[in-house]
Amino acid sequence: MSKVIPVAVFDCVVFGATGDLTLRKLLPALYGRFQDGQMTAESRVIGAARSPLSDDDFRARAARALEQHVAPDDRDAETVRRFLGQLFYVSIDATKPDADWDQFSRVLDDSRVRVFYLATSPDLYGPICQALGAAGLVTEQSRVVLEKPIGHDLASSNAITEAVGKVFSESQTFRIDHFLGKETVQNLMALRFANTIFERLWISDVIDHVQITVAETVGLEGRGDYYDKSGALRDMVQNHMLQLVCLIAMHPPLSLDADRVRDEKLKVLRALKPMEPYEVAALTVRGQYTAGAIDGKPVPGYLADLGGNEPSLTESFVALKAEVRTWRWANVPFYLRTGKRLPSKVSEIVIQFRSVPFSIFPPESAEWRPNALVIRLQPEEGMQLEMMAKDPGPGKLRLSPTSLDIRFETTFGRRFPDAYERLLMDTVRGDPTLFMRHDEVEAAWKWVEPILEAWAGRPDHPRPYPAGTWGPTAAIALIERDGRTWHEEMW
Ligand code: BG6
Repeated sequence: MSKVIPVAVFDCVVFGATGDLTLRKLLPALYGRFQDGQMTAESRVIGAARSPLSDDDFRARAARALEQHVAPDDRDAETVRRFLGQLFYVSIDATKPDADWDQFSRVLDDSRVRVFYLATSPDLYGPICQALGAAGLVTEQSRVVLEKPIGHDLASSNAITEAVGKVFSESQTFRIDHFLGKETVQNLMALRFANTIFERLWISDVIDHVQITVAETVGLEGRGDYYDKSGALRDMVQNHMLQLVCLIAMHPPLSLDADRVRDEKLKVLRALKPMEPYEVAALTVRGQYTAGAIDGKPVPGYLADLGGNEPSLTESFVALKAEVRTWRWANVPFYLRTGKRLPSKVSEIVIQFRSVPFSIFPPESAEWRPNALVIRLQPEEGMQLEMMAKDPGPGKLRLSPTSLDIRFETTFGRRFPDAYERLLMDTVRGDPTLFMRHDEVEAAWKWVEPILEAWAGRPDHPRPYPAGTWGPTAAIALIERDGRTWHEEMW
């Protein structure tokens, strides 16, 4: 077990303190770091939201959230009690010009690291930062954390960058993409740059294509208001999936220095071939789930999940084919797919290698399957290298596909901390390596926006797919047209 080094004493002000993200992710993550001794007993979490709550009301909500979202084995009554004692609450309507921002000066301690976490709608990022600046609350040791999505198109994202940038410097601005905090996503750098064997094969001569699947079984989970304005392309592709593309496609950075890593990721984003409007229909598929069944249980369709029967053109599924225009990746397509209400929750990256250039084995000796490296991000984190091997036994030579397996849980035998645990502590430490720089966000929007525009201008709608299936059949056709297939689970 690696040693836990406590971070500096901090005050973390969470705007949107009564919201879903705070209760489901942030408080459980802070509790995890507190339990491990990384968040010290002097540090405080100050919830801020509109509801008129007392410190005790907020603590009661936090207690319920921990009960729901922290596994019983990781919860200990005495530690929970001590953690709750470090929570405070400030009631404020950040949208009101007469909001009393001085309340914070009365609570905050100037000598500490100060983290402002904006778990609010992105249109409040600018106004909140402006108000914090005007109230003199931004010290040298302050940072601001912005949740994705940063805006909802290029213009709104740039406006946020500009407004936030007037108050916080780039080194104080932490744009969170929680996928980057997942252990298995961080491991992509280790896999590629701490081993000799893979990086030498990481080229178009050897790799046929890359597939990235982020599938979820959940539907809207009460987030319909947000999701229906967003859709899968903005919610998952613009950030999480493009970041995964970056980590797979980037060149080795000069060092682990945050800007060196982000420089390399940025090059990938800038190398993505923009889709022309006339190409969008052939290179993308959008879908929306209808009623179906998951794990044998009936589930409602998207419109019913939204709570009405009004039509909606929002996609809950997207599949697309992307191209990274560099020497290394010439003619190696990246197929991405993500969706809600798919048959299983699985995030995986498949590096599909080319077939052997020439076979000395008779065709009837094997069911050939070219090598593939399957990187399982979640759940059952691990890696599989699919390869051909001789079937043991006498008689004619026969070959079968088999695999080298690593399951991280058995290899490392311990709980993987939630992504937010790592990322929250990185904000306190002031380490931005696992956060998006403004130019990455901008480059990602620049690539995504033409797709959104082309969709908006088309008469066709997202294609329906029954919940519990792998999206519209057009998503299968998207890859099969190229003589390839989506990887089938062997896990
Ligand atoms: C969030 C999206 O960023 O990521 C959600 O807004 C999605 O729609 C979630 O469900 C998936 O994250 P995870 O960590 O559960 O894979």
